[in-house]
Amino acid sequence: MSTSDDEGDGAFTRSQALFERVARTIAGGESSYARLKKGLELCFDHGEGSHFWDIDGNEYIDYSLGYGPLIFGHRPKKIIEAVFEAVNRYGTVATFPYDLDAEVGELITELVPGVDLLRFANSGTEATMAAARLARAYTGRSKIVQMEGGYHGWADTHFWSSHPDVWRPEVSPYSPVPRPGSRGIPACYGEALLIAQYNDREGLAQLFERYGDDIAAVLVEPVQCNTGVILPEPGYLEFLREITRAYGALLIFDEVITGFRLAPGGAQERLGVVPDISTFAKALGGGFPIAAFGGSFEVMQLEATNQVMHGGTYTANVVALAAARAVLTEMKTRRQEIWSVLDGYGERLREGLAEACRSAGLRCLVQGIGPVWHIFFAKPDAPDLERIRNYREAHAYASIELFDRFHRAMLARGVYFHPYHFERWFVSAVHTEDDVRRTLEAAAEAAQEVVASLQERPLAGMAEPAMPGIAPA
Ligand SMILES: Cc1ncc(COP(=O)(O)O)c(C=O)c1O
Repeated sequence: MSTSDDEGDGAFTRSQALFERVARTIAGGESSYARLKKGLELCFDHGEGSHFWDIDGNEYIDYSLGYGPLIFGHRPKKIIEAVFEAVNRYGTVATFPYDLDAEVGELITELVPGVDLLRFANSGTEATMAAARLARAYTGRSKIVQMEGGYHGWADTHFWSSHPDVWRPEVSPYSPVPRPGSRGIPACYGEALLIAQYNDREGLAQLFERYGDDIAAVLVEPVQCNTGVILPEPGYLEFLREITRAYGALLIFDEVITGFRLAPGGAQERLGVVPDISTFAKALGGGFPIAAFGGSFEVMQLEATNQVMHGGTYTANVVALAAARAVLTEMKTRRQEIWSVLDGYGERLREGLAEACRSAGLRCLVQGIGPVWHIFFAKPDAPDLERIRNYREAHAYASIELFDRFHRAMLARGVYFHPYHFERWFVSAVHTEDDVRRTLEAAAEAAQEVVASLQERPLAGMAEPAMPGIAPA
């Protein structure tokens, strides 16, 4: 529980001291890239439901939810009890197949339209690597098409063109040749990828015309949630389904964010397009580390017969599967109730945030679906767009600095969402009416504060973030 007895007063004194201590042994003070924003090194004390507290005792309504997994909020009682019970019953690692394998397997195949057979993994990164290997083995082809602005984990094989520095002249013209997302990634991995623009049918058709014989799969977030939130244009996912089929390639949906969130059956259920292979993580474990990939019987036969290697000491461990069983049982039995909260509050917050910002005079786009969305604040010279359809448009439109000012103004009012301008907001099934009301009140004040700040401090043109470890030219 809280290490601080007093209520927070908005200061971050203890956070600063602890962060310094953490950073003495943990490189950069964080064990995952982009968890922190420089100058905003909050240290966590505890969470409860839709709120968390930093170690200075400041309380926040949480719209980051541990980067997405906490779909039932912090410390979800039922899930935690189910995990304890299972550990007491089985221990932690099962060594052989056991009944939790069957139970969670049955729940996933029942809920997700595109999954007949699956395998468990430990993280979204692993699940996506496995899915790509499977697609390459099934088709006997080497290239995977990914979308610029998407993210499929940090592996050498996929961390390419996630957020390329398109503001640099040599990167600016679109090219299907991928750009590495970090130093240390060998160029040869990029040779097995092609980069397309999300929502661009013509561009993808050209890639297939040119490289069709060599394309194993299109790997895509069905709703692109790693450049804020970008929705598929009507017919786009159907187009992906058709063109992959026409060329004998597979369609992989990376549902690490959308899975068990847009619906119990993920984006494929909600948007009605069924891929050949899907990957899951985040909400599947409700805060416990688990991932999975699966697909049709036919494709998954290669896994079933071990023609494709997939492994992991901790895959299908007791903690992970007990949590997933509890999460999926909740989703199956309380579906209506859960999604009326997720969708209802999602919709109200989107509308309310857009209204609060616009009535203060801030031009913005709020894009999302169900319990996930993002606010893009317009740069002063941004084109008037109805919506953002891909990474390039997001970059041309979105002001990092306005986002940053709004973020700080909301933080000061006890509302937390991820500080990076291309992350996203999540709402959980345990957010409340009161959270929504307080968030929208805070947003109205924060938006006015941002507008007022422009008089004193005009926008300076905040530096674009460079890719990790890649020095700007
Ligand atoms: C769409 C998507 N795929 C894959 C991953 C990687 O998942 P993990 O962080 O569990 O490795 C993420 C992580 O945010 C993601 O958003």
